[in-house]
Amino acid sequence: MREQTILTREWVANKQSFLDWESQPTSFKQYPHFSFRVPLREHPSLKWLAQTRCITDEQTVAQKPYRRLNVPSAGNLHPIEIYVQIRNVTGLLSGIYHLDVLHEELVLIREIAGEGIEPYVGMDKRFSGVIVMISLVPFRSSWKYALRAWRYLYLDLGHQIHALGASVRHFGLSLTKMSVNERLNTILGMGEDEVIGAVYGVGEMNERSVKALNPPLMRVQPTDYTETIDSLTGAVKTTAVYNKIPETLFYEDFDSINRLRRSAREFYPNGMSDTVIQELMSIPSSPSLESLFFVFQAHSMQSGLYRNGECAVRGNFNSEILHLLLDQRFISGSNMVVLIFAEIFCADSHIEAGIYAQELYRTCEYHNSGCSGIGAFYDKEASRWSDKPLIYAVAIGGKV
Ligand SMILES: Cc1cc2nc3c(=O)[nH]c(=O)nc-3n(C[C@H](O)[C@H](O)[C@H](O)COP(=O)(O)O)c2cc1C
Repeated sequence: MREQTILTREWVANKQSFLDWESQPTSFKQYPHFSFRVPLREHPSLKWLAQTRCITDEQTVAQKPYRRLNVPSAGNLHPIEIYVQIRNVTGLLSGIYHLDVLHEELVLIREIAGEGIEPYVGMDKRFSGVIVMISLVPFRSSWKYALRAWRYLYLDLGHQIHALGASVRHFGLSLTKMSVNERLNTILGMGEDEVIGAVYGVGEMNERSVKALNPPLMRVQPTDYTETIDSLTGAVKTTAVYNKIPETLFYEDFDSINRLRRSAREFYPNGMSDTVIQELMSIPSSPSLESLFFVFQAHSMQSGLYRNGECAVRGNFNSEILHLLLDQRFISGSNMVVLIFAEIFCADSHIEAGIYAQELYRTCEYHNSGCSGIGAFYDKEASRWSDKPLIYAVAIGGKV
């Protein structure tokens, strides 16, 4: 998908900048009004789930609600939904539910007993606890970004997987790896416009056998309307479900970091300390990635390009990096930009870049610094810095 999704100066210059926000597809999937609903706040044992994906800011823009979540998303379009199978959790009917983020509720899609989705995720016994399934809704993002959305879907998914891992860890639980078989999408009632992108367990397998859930769940459209780009749908449908367990750092103030995280729109360079810059450079990422750190301004650190914590090339590359990142002006005030390159251009490396960037966001928030994921860049111009493909960038700096 690399060639079909690159940005060039010509493409950006010719692109119509006018977007009719009235035609934006809905960002929150809604199950029918007759479905049984469970408010999440009534179940403290599921606090980790409520914190995995939640609205953390709501404003009115052009007379419409503008909601932002604990996870960032390219264009704030949020092409993600979450489903859970719950079994043997006190106070809850065992069943398959949709996480309704807008209303902070679980919506029961099907009650279960001796059958379940376990056989579709590699288990022949019942799983006590919760199986979390994260789906992608390509049109929410392709509506604005066309084929470039392919990249943002997987970067956004990485952010969401990290948020799940961090939340689970904070509440003293852990993720279990699942191996998904290709019938899962069908059994969950996914149509052409939605696909499962990642699956994890939170709980443990018990001794009781389980039958494969059948027939498929009801099908509900994830958006109010859809326009399909065949090559995007095809690429997303044929991508394997991600199941690697993300590494996450532990922060005591998980709740406030999760609630307050925002993307910086402006920076105050004096507000960032060199120690934080160095700490950010030492955050581990997947071996599928290589990060280059461009320090533009710091108190006593040399400006330049850093690799493995060392200044490899001295100089101030602020204006070059700014051009590379589509001249997005606010980036010029940042202290540092991280360019994330991939060994292989594929969905997994984008997911892993999203996971890594989510940790950068959290560490910045912990240190009261600003951070923003940057998915818009002129791909070919990045070859000056690496022979690998650039897949994501993160701008970091003092908070205003
Ligand atoms: C994959 C991805 C790409 C993004 N690309 C850009 C970008 O190019 N420029 C920018 O200013 N913000 C970018 N953002 C930040 C989003 O605009 C931001 O997450 C969104 O508006 C929601 O705001 P919030 O992060 O404060 O909740 C990106 C975020 C993600 C996850």
